[in-house]
Amino acid sequence: MRLARAWSVALYGVDGQLVEIEADIGIGLPGVHLVGLPDAALHESKDRVRAAVVNSGWDWPNRRITLALSPATLRKAGSGFDLALACAVLAAAGAVPGSRLENTVLIGELALDGRVRPVRGVLPCLLAARRSGSRTVVVPSETLSEAAVVEGLEVLGANCLNEVLSWLAGEGPLAAPGPVDVELPPPPPELADVVGQPDARQALEVAAAGGHHLLLIGPPGTGKTMLAQRLIGLLPALHPDEALQLAAIRSVAGRLPPTGPLSMAPPFVAPHHSSSVAALVGGGSGLAKPGAVSLAHRGVLFMDEAPEFAPHLLESLRTPLEEGEVRVARADGSVRYPSRFQLVMAANPCPCAPAHDRDCICPSSARRRYLGRLSGPLLDRVDLRAALEPVVALSAADVRPEESTETVRARVLIARVAAAARWADLGWRSNVEVPGPVLRSRFRLPRSVVRPLDDALRRGEITARGADRALRVTSAVR
Ligand SMILES: Nc1ncnc2c1ncn2[C@@H]1O[C@H](COP(=O)(O)OP(=O)(O)O)[C@@H](O)[C@H]1O
Ligand SMILES: [Mg+2]
Ligand SMILES: [Zn+2]
Repeated sequence: MRLARAWSVALYGVDGQLVEIEADIGIGLPGVHLVGLPDAALHESKDRVRAAVVNSGWDWPNRRITLALSPATLRKAGSGFDLALACAVLAAAGAVPGSRLENTVLIGELALDGRVRPVRGVLPCLLAARRSGSRTVVVPSETLSEAAVVEGLEVLGANCLNEVLSWLAGEGPLAAPGPVDVELPPPPPELADVVGQPDARQALEVAAAGGHHLLLIGPPGTGKTMLAQRLIGLLPALHPDEALQLAAIRSVAGRLPPTGPLSMAPPFVAPHHSSSVAALVGGGSGLAKPGAVSLAHRGVLFMDEAPEFAPHLLESLRTPLEEGEVRVARADGSVRYPSRFQLVMAANPCPCAPAHDRDCICPSSARRRYLGRLSGPLLDRVDLRAALEPVVALSAADVRPEESTETVRARVLIARVAAAARWADLGWRSNVEVPGPVLRSRFRLPRSVVRPLDDALRRGEITARGADRALRVTSAVR
């Protein structure tokens, strides 16, 4: 009759919580009792862990085994506790010493034959382990490169249960990670490739400078998608903490880039209009997955053919846009994912979408309704709109060379540095983050400059929010 203890991490979105796992081998009918709010997948751990232990050549204690996960009030999901459960049972049975378990966090699912299988979300688990003062973390070896991104922890990779058991006994090593790959951003598509569209280009540049949301309206084949894709090339690289946050989101989604877990390039995510709400804003069963809005965190969310998105999908964007994070409601609480993205929407002017507007066959009511599908509250947050014209000449002889990504990006970075300096004392980095009242009090613009805004307000042509938006954009170009 013995007691042993191991540690693991429970994930709630990208937030992790250290979980203590106690194994007690006591008197009573043989069996395994798992307590501490396990979900269905975790309940199945009992059978997996037992098979993995037996198939690794160990005796399974034929007694009453109680496995307690605490804090008991927190719901625990998934299969990542398997490794910690197996080690706790074997330590309680006296098969392995328990001393190393005291200071080690164990993460991994067990296959029936004892192999350690990768789980989603290893990176945020390690961030939580580090925050709680843990020193050593054992992870599935496939996730070693991802885990190594988190500095300040001893990270070890395991292929199978027996490797971990010999390490606990001080008899064998576990693999340490190789050097961390930092992915060089692939060269972004070149802005000079887009011919004409001076208004849309300027809007794109201002959007990049101030972090504004943008709506591009124009006939098909005029370069809306091209321009949207070129926005990320104009944006500054991510800060290291932002890159880590994005990597944590991708880790939970099971979508880390093959080139390396940590990427400094702002993400570009383009959900299709037939996406589900879960795919767009997050959800799904078990460990809720982050949606497109979170995979686009600190980057660009591009909604092509935006009016084709169903109203409930557009509506679901409101909270992430307003709050910069998503709370996915679960039966047992909610999980949180950051979602601070820059929205770019593209729309045809009407449903029939001819190459030239003169060929439109839509009734005027249908034309009006089409852009009206983008809900007011959503459009209210989009600071910039630009119209694209049909392209009339493409061949090199007929068009003058356009500015390159590099040229425009240099101006954007200057504007960004100025904005960051302007708001440094208040902790904001770009104008979009600044609330209207602060904008108004900081910018004592000359009366002549703000008069057109005041006039438009008085005539009811714009709302107060609209006036603030204009001010916000103005300050981006200053
Ligand atoms: N302004 C433009 N400059 C250069 N090529 C363009 C332009 N507009 C469209 N094209 C060509 O047409 C293709 C489709 O453009 P795209 O950006 O997808 O149009 P849209 O999204 O407006 O329908 C591009 O891949 C490109 O070859
Ligand atoms: Mg397109
Ligand atoms: Zn039409």
